Amino acid sequence: MECDRIREGRTEVLVPRQDALAQFPPGTARVFYNPKAALSRDATVILLSLLQPREYLDTMGATGIRGLRAAVEASVPVVINDRDPMAAELIRENIAFAGVPVESLDQDANVLLSSRRFEAVDLDPFGTPAPYLDSACRSARRYLFATATDTAPLCGAHRKAGMRRYSVHLVKTEYHAEVGLRTLLGFIARSLARYDRGMEPLLCFSHQHFHRVHLRVLPGAAKADATLGRVGFVLHCQKCLHREEAFGLAPSCDPCPRCGGPLTPIGPLWLGPVNDPATLEGISRLLPDNTLAESPALTRLVRLLREELPTSTHYDYHVVARNLRVSPPPMETVLGRLEASGYRASRAHYSGTVLKTDAPIGEVERAIGGE
Ligand SMILES: C[S@@+](CC[C@H](N)C(=O)[O-])C[C@H]1O[C@@H](n2cnc3c(N)ncnc32)[C@H](O)[C@@H]1O
Repeated sequence: MECDRIREGRTEVLVPRQDALAQFPPGTARVFYNPKAALSRDATVILLSLLQPREYLDTMGATGIRGLRAAVEASVPVVINDRDPMAAELIRENIAFAGVPVESLDQDANVLLSSRRFEAVDLDPFGTPAPYLDSACRSARRYLFATATDTAPLCGAHRKAGMRRYSVHLVKTEYHAEVGLRTLLGFIARSLARYDRGMEPLLCFSHQHFHRVHLRVLPGAAKADATLGRVGFVLHCQKCLHREEAFGLAPSCDPCPRCGGPLTPIGPLWLGPVNDPATLEGISRLLPDNTLAESPALTRLVRLLREELPTSTHYDYHVVARNLRVSPPPMETVLGRLEASGYRASRAHYSGTVLKTDAPIGEVERAIGGE
């Protein structure tokens, strides 16, 4: 296997040579490496620097870059696993080159997670993490991290696949990035609850074609009940864009209170906050003295997450303006008008044309229409 030595953050690793002309170059190499996932790894490394778990498992290592960066840059004890023999071989080479005391394994993820517990478990599979979440929920003592790249099933674009993988009823909405993230979080909340465990999201975001979640696992049936208490449905009116939240696993079937149209239940979704303000503040404090401060994408992401309201939906202001048949004013004007009317309003980290607010749709229309 022909390899190139690359550097990401402060860590150097060998990665297999890719066909740069292919539509998706990472798919052309025998062992997977996607440079576009650097932001996901940067976020995990800075979070691990803050949390300092006693043991971190990179369950699906590929080249091992995620786990190696955790060992080199966050100085946490690391285990890297991959069931593919060529990946496991490359991981061993990369560990030897980095000169860090990392344990390497080559087991199937579910076998490993069912036989050993780790303080922090990280799932970074191809596509959906759903087949590994049950064992990960049993193995993770304090922290559970996961990536999902199956954004279409998670957000309602592939409804049957969403039902099969995550047991959810979804429809396509303009806030699909939010629905995807909250479908994944809701599924993990229900998976943990089976084992009398709850969760607290620490650092979660949607970026391009993936969702990334980092959670603290909370022990006990009371925490599991409290976690399930934050799971529910968004009831969405496809006629007038009204939406409301309904907690619990059995949504009501009342008509839209605004226009009388049918309300479509979307969920079960995680309806609680997707980020922990104290964790984001801790990361912001660490960043200036960390080489990751040189990652403009990470600095921007953390700033946007700190400013973002924790609402479970957003409004795409182009969609609202189109419905009103007006040209949209600048985003800052709309946010300012909502705040002047006594509502809270922010941007969302995953799109430049959406706003989050606790104002109802009628007020959003007034702010966009300029009344
Ligand atoms: C998306 S790649 C991981 C990327 C890597 N974490 C990174 O940041 O570059 C997924 C990896 O999971 C491994 N994998 C797939 N199914 C697995 C399983 N059941 N158990 C262990 N590893 C598995 C594959 O061999 C592949 O290397």
